[in-house]
Amino acid sequence: MKTILLIGIGAGNPDHMTAEAIAALNAADVFFVVDKGARTSDLIRLREEICARFIAAPRYRVAAIPDPKRDRAPADYLAAVDTWHHERAIAYEAAIAGELKEGETGAFLVWGDPALYDSTLRILDKVSARGNVAFAVKVIPGISAVQALAAAHRIALNTIGGAVHVTTGRRLAEKVPDADTIVVMLDDGNGLAGFPRQDFDIHWGAYLGTPDEVLVAGPAAEVVEDILRLRADRRAAKGWIMDTFLLRRRGG
Ligand SMILES: C[S@@+](CC[C@H](N)C(=O)[O-])C[C@H]1O[C@@H](n2cnc3c(N)ncnc32)[C@H](O)[C@@H]1O
Repeated sequence: MKTILLIGIGAGNPDHMTAEAIAALNAADVFFVVDKGARTSDLIRLREEICARFIAAPRYRVAAIPDPKRDRAPADYLAAVDTWHHERAIAYEAAIAGELKEGETGAFLVWGDPALYDSTLRILDKVSARGNVAFAVKVIPGISAVQALAAAHRIALNTIGGAVHVTTGRRLAEKVPDADTIVVMLDDGNGLAGFPRQDFDIHWGAYLGTPDEVLVAGPAAEVVEDILRLRADRRAAKGWIMDTFLLRRRGG
């Protein structure tokens, strides 16, 4: 049987690697790398740094998986994601069938934690369901951007006994959830720009865990304009941005 490991590598700092993730890294015969183009070269560099630092006796192979083009402004978002996942499943299937021998272990290095806003598990489920290649899957949890944000700001995610609503910038822009604490990921800036500022305090972080980390916190009505400016500046300078923020309802 082939084995596929999904290794959570943390949200940007190689020190986020857990002992379990390092052991898994050293068990892999093949690393599957999804080729997303130059835009993510910083992210590829982190993965290379992790392999160089933590693999004791390098004997692994690297197999590139081409990433199908994604429609970034579809009329039907969920249908477009489904088509994209289907095309990715075919590419993953070809790589697992062609690059990994029976009895070998392959690995995907997954940003943050594999269970949070990452499609690798869902795509591997699709590959399994197609029935053309058999493999076992093991997930190694990682430190997500959500945990990195809370730690960087030295805050608890929840209020006492309270719930935490984790969502996307797209959903926040559509409708603000009725929750005390809202954590927002995958924002293109519209979520940050569009919620009722007078109702919330905000803890915002970009490039968490990296040397470029930026943090801002305060009453949203006072700091969101600054964050939007900072966000645009940093994004322009670096070519990409990854940010996460927590909204806490005032008086909640
Ligand atoms: C595709 S999701 C991946 C989430 C990842 N699986 C995790 O557990 O953090 C990408 C989103 O995660 C957040 N993110 C990931 N790394 C981050 C970082 N270093 N700083 C700030 N936000 C980050 C951003 O909201 C980004 O849009």
